[in-house]
Formats: sequence, C-alpha cells, structure tokens
Amino acid sequence: MRPFQPPVRTLMGPGPSDVHPRVLEALARPTIGHLDPLFVGMMEELKELLRYAFRTSNRLTMPVSAPGSAGMETCFLNLVEPGDKVVVCINGVFGGRMRENVERAGGEPIVVADPWGRAVDPNKLEETLAAHPDARIVAFVHAETSTGACSDVKTLVEIAHRHDCLAIVDAVTALGGCELEVDAWNIDAVYAGSQKCLSCTPGLAPVSFNERAMGKVRSRRSKVRSWFQDLSLMAAYWGGEQQRTYHHTAPVNALYGLHEALLMLHAEGIEEAWARHRRNHLALKAGLEAMGLELLVPEAERLPQLNTVSIPAGVDDAAVRARLLNTYGLEIGAGLGDLAGKVWRIGVMGHSSRPEKVILCLSALGTVLADLGVPVDIGTALSRAHGALRD
Ligand SMILES: Cc1ncc(COP(=O)(O)O)c(C=O)c1O
Repeated sequence: MRPFQPPVRTLMGPGPSDVHPRVLEALARPTIGHLDPLFVGMMEELKELLRYAFRTSNRLTMPVSAPGSAGMETCFLNLVEPGDKVVVCINGVFGGRMRENVERAGGEPIVVADPWGRAVDPNKLEETLAAHPDARIVAFVHAETSTGACSDVKTLVEIAHRHDCLAIVDAVTALGGCELEVDAWNIDAVYAGSQKCLSCTPGLAPVSFNERAMGKVRSRRSKVRSWFQDLSLMAAYWGGEQQRTYHHTAPVNALYGLHEALLMLHAEGIEEAWARHRRNHLALKAGLEAMGLELLVPEAERLPQLNTVSIPAGVDDAAVRARLLNTYGLEIGAGLGDLAGKVWRIGVMGHSSRPEKVILCLSALGTVLADLGVPVDIGTALSRAHGALRD
C-alpha cells in the first residue's frame, strides 16, 4: 500500500463540491489543543461567522462535529420528545429522512407529501395543521438536493407559527447558495452542511437555535436520547451559557477549514454569494436548454445551486457519468430514489460555482452526448452560456 493520492476532479454533483485551495491549506496548519486559548478564540470567530452566514443573532450557533445528517439528528433529538406530533413535509429524499428522525426520537410524524421536483405546498401544510391542532413542530427542507426544488421558507414558517408550532429547517444545500434569513424569517432551528455552497470539506454541520427552540429544549420532560448530541452538553463546550468544558475532542483542523471558508464568504458578501450562484445557474440553464435538455423543476421553484436535468430518452445514465468522470475528471450526480435513472443532478455550488466550471460542464456533457448520437449543438450552447454570464 502507498499514500492515497486522489486525482484532481471537478465536483459538480450534489456535494461535496470543489474545495477552495485556501481551505485545503488551512487544513494542513499545525494541530493545537481543542482547549488551547488560541483555538478557543478561533471558535468564537467561527460562531460569529456562522451567524453572519445564517443571518442570525442566535447565541446558540455552532458547527456540530459531524456531517449534515448529524445536524439533522441534533435538531430532532433535542426538540422532539416521545409522543410529540411533528408535521413533516416530504418532497424528496431528505424530507423522508426527517420522518425517520421523528420516529427515532419517539415522535409521531404527520406527513404532508408533495411530488418530487416540486416545492412544499403551503396550502397542504395549512390544511394538515388545521386537522392536527395538537402538532407542536413543523419540519421541511429548504433546498431539496434530491430534486432541485426550493421551498418558500418564509411562508411555511409563518404558517407553522400561526398554528403554534416550532419550525425546523434543513438548509444543508441552501446555506451560502440562496437566500436564507434565519432571523427575518423566524426559523426556530436550522441545520446545514459544510460541503455544499461554502467551498469547504464535508464533515461539519452548522446549526442554529433561537430562544423559542431553546425554551422547548430546556423544558423537556425526558433526557435527550443521545449523549453526544445533547445540546445542553454541546453548548457547554461551544461556550453557551456556562463555562466552557470538555465535551468531545473537536475536529481541530476541520474547524480551521470551516473558519477559512467562512472568512472567504464574509469577504465576498453573503448576498454576492447568492447572486454568484444564480448567475452560474442561469448560464448553465441557458446552455443545457440550447442542447435541448430540460430541467425537471418548474422555474419558480428551482434552486440555482442544484440543477436536475431530465435524461434524454435512450441515453445510458451511468455510461454518460462514467465518460464525464474518466475523460474530463468531471463528476455530476445521479438521480436518487424515485428519480434514479431519470435525471442528472448538476451542482454549481461553492467553489464549483464559477463560469469556467459551467463552461467545462456544458462542453464535456455536450461532447459525450454528441458521441452517443444525441443531436446537440455545442457551439450554440456555449455561446448562450457566455451570453448569460455577460448579462
Ligand atoms: C438536503 C440535505 N439534507 C441532509 C443531507 C445530509 O448531509 P450529510 O451527507 O453531510 O450527512 C444532505 C446531503 O446531501 C442534503 O442534501
């Protein structure tokens, strides 16, 4: 065996996306103790930078030392108590995982189902809450990575609050890639991931809880069913209301990487980051449409950072993705669940959300499709994409 030397790829699937070289350099800095005063100072900045990214002043804003799924579990395990009725909106894979989480926390999920590829329907949520006045929590995914649909967080949270429910929002693919306003939209609990629109490595889950959510945690009748994810213990390490104490050994270097990624986001400006994702999405869309390819999600409900493209009839999904990977070093995503074999998922997230990556993707995909006999006009596709980037 030899040291593992991965190739340089362009990551334009559903995540991880390309990591910025500054983040990779930060990961290689010397490891120091996780209670070293200098490290603790960096943690304070990290919390401040996360508040900036989430647009919140919530004190309890921190990265959970594990991937996005652990952020999800942290929210559900702390906020759901055995017997709690939780309305879960499902319009793709990750809404389905929320239901699993509710069940494992001992809660009773009430499902609001929407078609894959569509946003969560606010009217259905309203009707469901009217039929279940004893529900206490509403949960839904902002940016459904399995389909590319974006739900109207502000409206859904308003409805949840009108029915006296807390709102838990999955922002794993949303954070840094499209408008997300934790305070202005009154989101009670939110979790995200480091590997999507932040240009950072996978493995960390930024979370944020407002006072209302913390009130529910403090008034729990039973202990949280996970020691590691018990917020009151985690907060003691991340410097919440108590003195900072050892909880677990933080992934020191991974946190350097997130700190660096968030510094870059801050320098760019969060609104500019949202606008960059939109510009690159529009260029990709212009090129894909010029090649006769169709996006699955209706325009008004489409995510900019994750584009779900219908696979043309007769085209071998796996063969195309393999050619892209092996010939061009380009990764795009396959369809998940109900959409497996029917769509490709093309991410323009984080450091992959750049004009040169969009152009590479269009020319490589166009060439592979042309080789397979699909009639595509690559020249027109590229010129439309360049045109959109100039607009
Ligand atoms: C919307 C959404 N939620 C949750 C997750 C889980 O995150 P992770 O894979 O980092 O555990 C993902 C990952 O793709 C996601 O896209």
